[in-house]
Amino acid sequence: MNLKELAAHVTVEFQKHYGRPPRWIVAAPGRVNVIGEHTDYNDGFVLPMAIERYAVMAADAADTPGQVNVYDTHFKESATIDISAPVTKGQPKWSNYIRGVFAGFQNRGVTIPALDVAFMSTVPLGGGLSSSAALEVCTATLMEAATGKAIDPIEKALLAQKAEHDFAGVPCGIMDQFISALGREGHLLLLDCRTRKTQLVPMSDPSVALLVINTNVKHELSGGEYAERRAQCEEAARNIGVKSLRDCTADQLDQAKGKLSEVVYRRARHVIGEIERTTHAAEGIRQSNWPTVGQFMYASHYALRDDYEVSCKELDVVVEIAEDIGYQGGVYGCRMTGGGFGGCCVALVKADCVNAITKKIAADYKAKTGIDAAIFASRPAAGATIIKG
Ligand code: GLA
Repeated sequence: MNLKELAAHVTVEFQKHYGRPPRWIVAAPGRVNVIGEHTDYNDGFVLPMAIERYAVMAADAADTPGQVNVYDTHFKESATIDISAPVTKGQPKWSNYIRGVFAGFQNRGVTIPALDVAFMSTVPLGGGLSSSAALEVCTATLMEAATGKAIDPIEKALLAQKAEHDFAGVPCGIMDQFISALGREGHLLLLDCRTRKTQLVPMSDPSVALLVINTNVKHELSGGEYAERRAQCEEAARNIGVKSLRDCTADQLDQAKGKLSEVVYRRARHVIGEIERTTHAAEGIRQSNWPTVGQFMYASHYALRDDYEVSCKELDVVVEIAEDIGYQGGVYGCRMTGGGFGGCCVALVKADCVNAITKKIAADYKAKTGIDAAIFASRPAAGATIIKG
């Protein structure tokens, strides 16, 4: 479903559930990170793009004072959120992303209006495509529509990130919420996570496409591995004597090797290499130097697999299949994307080979793992929008 169809769908669902048409419709996209993995919480660079998969909400003022009613049109499940006091965690689990954003607005002194909301998302859940950031940023955008007050998109992204920290228990970096809030159609976003300065990198060459390959192995970032990696990076920076790994060169790391455990050394080696790969890859994209960009993507995957150890068998299988298809078959590069431990790979491919590559990856992946992959191409989409407001 494209965004227009999705908006129409959620409008019908709102009407069916609440018996009147919605007053506001808002959307926020998921993302795929082209390169720059596990660098955001190290003050490094990331290069994500918003994808044509969205969280969408239709809403209207409600006659239930002190209460927001949210209806999930896909799972046909409702949440009632008490907004008469500081919003707290609650059930169902997915409502915490929404609750966290409401709490963020309350902290800014905003009174949450009573609302009826219907929502739907086409961002695969637990697929490493930021379904949670999409839902958070979508909620924040609904608040902007319903209060008539826009907030600075960077503050909006930070508010959504805090919701993830405090209400979902994932100490994530800033990438996902940033790209969902600030994405631009036809562009990747090169984000300096230290200064929070962004540069738009055009990605409009019709001869290439980005394929998202969902291994359909679910990832769960609150499981502790993510927090552990983050802590290891902080340990590395502390022992090297820098503020963050952004401030450390490969040479400095090697000089400090004796001060680090073997594992922490490898974690830092990934991060330092990845920050460099990301800015080089952005340059390669600007120059439409696709083979070079592809090589950086493969190098990123190997480091995530061997040094950072956040890949898994299924992600590695996808990358191996992509390598087998190779440049001759139209694949420039491929890597795992997002937090890891399952979820998706992203591949840079020749546009006229998309169908053949999709078929080949699907067939080989099924043969090697017994699992059906879900594969789709996406152009870089726009960030959060008020569709009706
Ligand atoms: C998750 C987090 C992001 C980022 C990536 C890894 O998606 O939410 O902040 O750290 O993992 O690059």
